[in-house]
Amino acid sequence: MKASLFFLVAAAFCLSAVRGESHPLTDIPAPLEGVQTVFWLPEYPEKQFPAGSLVEAVVGVHNNANNPLNVTAIIGSLNNAQAFHQFYQNFSYQPQQAVVRPGEEASLSYYFMPDESFPPREFQVALTVFYNTPAGSFASTFFNETIDIVEVPPLIDVQGIFLLAALLALLAAAVYGAKSGLEWYGILKPKKASRKSEVKKRTVAAGEENEWLKGTNFNQGVKKAPKSKAPVKAAPEVTPLAPEPTPVVAKKTK
Ligand SMILES: *[C@@H]1O[C@H](CO)[C@@H](O)[C@H](O)[C@H]1NC(C)=O
Ligand SMILES: *[C@@H]1O[C@H](CO)[C@@H](O)[C@H](O)[C@H]1NC(C)=O
Ligand SMILES: *[C@@H]1O[C@H](CO)[C@@H](O)[C@H](O)[C@H]1NC(C)=O
Repeated sequence: MKASLFFLVAAAFCLSAVRGESHPLTDIPAPLEGVQTVFWLPEYPEKQFPAGSLVEAVVGVHNNANNPLNVTAIIGSLNNAQAFHQFYQNFSYQPQQAVVRPGEEASLSYYFMPDESFPPREFQVALTVFYNTPAGSFASTFFNETIDIVEVPPLIDVQGIFLLAALLALLAAAVYGAKSGLEWYGILKPKKASRKSEVKKRTVAAGEENEWLKGTNFNQGVKKAPKSKAPVKAAPEVTPLAPEPTPVVAKKTK
């Protein structure tokens, strides 16, 4: 299902490539000698992007040429890792306005979002910064590497929960062991009777408090949390988990 959607998208791109007008990535100008670039992927340094997530790429442009550079735009694409000429997705053309004088450098952010229909596997992503000087138009491809599209990580980390449960069990065992040891040596006196009545009282109190919640499934199996500082809310806030809207960030570093 996902794979077929993916091929549809790919086919659509190929079709428009046949018909389309000149795309900025069709004839990329050469880089200007003396211009060096570096890049960072602040959030995904491992180059593993969940499909459908917004990725920020930062390019550092260092101008060792003799003329000031006018950085005009950044654009990129996602391609077949084995056959670069196959374009699966062209990322948005993002205009830039930065002048980098000789000897200076600037860092600029570019945001792209690999389509959520892509299956988890290897692709190639190429990102190119375009700039002008009085001598003409130039471009530097600052990123052109194999990346991994990965599955969106699950909201609940099952492994983590098991690990936490195991740790808690260990801790409980240790506490119980220590307590038994102390009792054995007579340092701590077991006080079973008093504890039982106390627990009884407490559950009664909690039951009364939660009387108004009957009929909802809010308090099923929920014990009163003794340490919670937040006031008990009047209505259970059980909204269905909506995906967070992806922020479209328009940040630009100059
Ligand atoms: C994507 O970019 C390539 C390379 O410039 C171009 O051939 C193709 O037409 C573009 N596709 C779309 C859908 O704009
Ligand atoms: C670069 O930008 C400056 C100011 O924005 C402008 O005056 C100049 O003509 C531009 N140069 C080129 C080559 O685009
Ligand atoms: C990216 O690298 C591939 C080789 O892996 C090359 O064919 C392609 O032209 C490069 N793309 C750009 C935009 O430089």
